[in-house]
Order: sequence, then C-alpha cells, then structure tokens
Amino acid sequence: MRAQIIGTGSCLPEKIVTNDYLSTIVDTSDEWISSRTGIRQRHISVEETTASLSTEAARRALEDAGVKAEELDLIIVATCTPDTLVPNTACLVQSELGAVNATAFDISAACSGFVFALNLVDAYMQSGMYQTALVIGAETLSRIVDWKDRSTCVIFADGAGAAVVRAAETGVSAGVMGSDGTRGGVIYVKNRENFNPFVPEQKPMDFLYMDGGAVFKFAVKKIPEAIHETLEKADLQVEDIDWFILHQANARINQMIAKKLNVSVDKVPGNVDHCGNTSAASVPILLDEVNRKGLLKSGQKIVLAGFGSGLTWGVLTLTWA
Ligand code: ACO
Repeated sequence: MRAQIIGTGSCLPEKIVTNDYLSTIVDTSDEWISSRTGIRQRHISVEETTASLSTEAARRALEDAGVKAEELDLIIVATCTPDTLVPNTACLVQSELGAVNATAFDISAACSGFVFALNLVDAYMQSGMYQTALVIGAETLSRIVDWKDRSTCVIFADGAGAAVVRAAETGVSAGVMGSDGTRGGVIYVKNRENFNPFVPEQKPMDFLYMDGGAVFKFAVKKIPEAIHETLEKADLQVEDIDWFILHQANARINQMIAKKLNVSVDKVPGNVDHCGNTSAASVPILLDEVNRKGLLKSGQKIVLAGFGSGLTWGVLTLTWA
C-alpha cells in the first residue's frame, strides 16, 4: 500500500502585509521585492499560532476528505517554528481535533519538512503500520525573522497546509530525500536562550540568518537533479508529469527550475506573490490552492519538491486520487 492524498486544506493568518507597508519599516521597495522574489504580499500572524493555523488547515483537509478526526491513526506536523517545545504541535492539533486514536509528533526539516513527512507516512503505509494519516506543514516564521533586516523580513511569512492521506493501491510512487549538514551555515537560527547556571555568559536569541545567493544556487542545481532521479525511480518521464508543486521560496528559482526541466511554466503553479515563503507550509498550501481550483484530476501525475535549511531537499512523485 502507498500514501494516497484524499483531501487538502490550508489556513493563512488574517493580516496581510504588502510590500509597500514593509517599505515604511525597512529600506526597501515594492519594485525591489517583487522583481527579485515575485512576492507582493504575505500573511503575518497576530493572534494565530502555529498550532491554531495547523488545526484549521487540518479541519478543512478532513472535511475535503470526508474523514472524521477519530479515524486518524497518525498526525505529523512539519515545522521549524513550533509554539511550544513540548508538547509537540501535532499533539496540540490532536487535542483540538479530538483525534483520540492518533499517534502525533513533529518533524523539523525546514522548507523540505512537508515532503519529508509525506515520505515518512508513505514508508509507514508500505509497512502496514498506519492507515489514515494527517500531514501538516505549518510555520509562524514572523516570530524568528528580524524585522529590521530587509534581506529576510521581506521574504518569510506564516501559514499552514494539510493533507489527509490513506493507505491505497496507488499514491506516492517514488521519492528522493537528501541532506547536507555541512552547509548548515547557509540558513540558520543559532542561539536559544540558555538559563543553565553553569553557562558563564547568556547569549540573546538570534534571528534567522540566510545567505540568499547560496540558497538560490543550491535550489536551481539540486532540485532539477533530484526531480530527474525521482522520475527515473518511478519510471516516468518529465513530460508525464501534469503538475510540479515546488516550494515557494522565490518565483525566479521556480522559473529557472522549469527552464532546466524544459517544462512549461503553466505546469509549475505558484502562490509566492500572495503568500511569501512559508517554509514547510508552502507545498501543502499551494497543493490545496490548486486542488480547490479543481485543477487536479484523478490519475494525474504530480511532483512535490521542497528545499531549505539543513541544507535539505526532498522530491516525491504521486498519482492523484
Ligand atoms: N530591499 C532593497 N535592497 C535589498 C533588500 C531589500 N529587501 N535586501 C537586500 N537588499 C540589497 C542588499 O543589501 C544588496 O545591497 P548592496 O549591493 O549595496 O550590498 C543588494 O540589495 C543586492 O543584494 P543581493 O543579496 O545580491 O540580492 P539578490 O539579487 O541576490 O536577491 C534574494 C536577494 C532575493 C534573497 C535572492 O538571493 C534570493 O531570492 N535567494 C534565494 C533566497 C530564498 O529563496 N530563500 C528562501 C529559501 S530558504 C528557505 O526556504 C528556508
């Protein structure tokens, strides 16, 4: 049995922050941001939390799938911005949903998180361990971004996306995941506060640092390679794929990936213009948008791809239910 997505949902914070607004708090402009990233606005949490966004996205996915919370036997939340270190976000979601029969835990793999989590669910389903899972990607990156740093605060944003997954004859067909921990210095949030009395000097918590150029080069090289590798494993050609749902980091990155794969940009939908980069949430939010537009047809072949801090990357091919 393989992991088959049978419903999707997403949730974005109510507050929308435009490029023009950001240009009133840091030295930037709509022209700079939109021409380099494709981003025009993003959703930023005020009241919402990673858990509340996750829960609402999950409710919508369950409704779309026609599945009751009690039917879930597994909940995985991919996030690098949990509200609490313990309990994990998935347990908070479990409690809110009343998913009393689920095992619930989080994984952390930055922008590759949702793809890593779905790959994990697929492995569980191949083994027969779980039958009905909820996979969520959720972030409140606005909490770890330095709002005085124009190179990062214009890029990152908040939101959650979810997929209900059932063990079925078809679904995920192949995957390629990878990590290069030697390149951890490209995107990081280093210090947490440490109140241990044996630590001689308390360091304040850091904000997110990113070497944007390095991420750009890494993504446009690694993702086409990993997509080709995954397609080979699945015995598929690039032209067999109906949709490429790629991590929404930067519109230019995805245009370059499309060019390298020699596929029409029509097959590479994007929402970075209105969502910004929501890290682990970006793939499932986009998948839900495309699904709710009625664009995904039964039997279509889809590639999901994530890349980000770690460095990490993950690609899956799947057949739509
Ligand atoms: N507004 C105006 N100027 C800015 C801004 C801003 N918001 N940010 C940086 N600049 C300035 C820089 O200070 C620099 O000025 P200088 O030349 O005087 O030093 C100049 O613009 C050029 O900076 P670069 O970093 O070279 O700009 P570049 O054209 O490479 O674009 C960007 C930067 C958009 C970050 C690009 O490198 C990129 O998109 N990289 C990929 C990043 C990404 O996708 N990250 C997310 C993935 S990571 C993840 O998902 C976890």
